[in-house]
Amino acid sequence: MGTTSGRDEPVSEEIIDATLADSFPASDPPFWTLGRDRYGRQEPAKSNDTEGFTMKNANIGLSDEQRTPVVKILNMLLSDEYVLYTKTRNYHWNVLGPQFNDLHKFFEEQYTELNVVVDDVAERARALGGWAFGTLQEFVQHARLKEVPGQYPNARDMIANLLADHETLVRQLRADLETAEKHHDMGTNDFLTGLMEKHEKMAWMLRSFLQAESV
Ligand SMILES: [Fe+2]
Repeated sequence: MGTTSGRDEPVSEEIIDATLADSFPASDPPFWTLGRDRYGRQEPAKSNDTEGFTMKNANIGLSDEQRTPVVKILNMLLSDEYVLYTKTRNYHWNVLGPQFNDLHKFFEEQYTELNVVVDDVAERARALGGWAFGTLQEFVQHARLKEVPGQYPNARDMIANLLADHETLVRQLRADLETAEKHHDMGTNDFLTGLMEKHEKMAWMLRSFLQAESV
């Protein structure tokens, strides 16, 4: 189920909640849910302080109820970022054509930036006291961006594919930063706003390539 079906449609909170419900059925909750340990075992009942899974020193003015949905959107986002990082690196390796050298280097610049983004998103989830996905299986399972194995698009289609993915993330981030604000997590709201600006800039660079006749 996609959360960004139309280019100009805002992503509603209800759609995000439905997507998360689809992704994490009640019988198989994600292991990073607050209150579970890294093996998915339920922690003992907690008092009002920060016993169990929640970091003992994470007295940052946000309740478990406020942090849990934000950790969820960060892990969904982490999955998307990892897929986009991998897709960009794939194109760095496999691009063909008269602009090979330019595109080879351009894609390297973008996947290098995405590599930093992946790290930042994962560590934001950890800073809130949640776990971060750390396996390829989880990234593929939860990413909304899709890969197409076995296909090697031409250079113009590679750029168009990456542009579409960045624009999808920009639209997703507009909804995510509102979710963070709704839960009074202004740190994550600020973080996601900056991340949205990074994707807007990377999208602009890709869009500029497409406007050249020769690609
Ligand atoms: Fe390389």
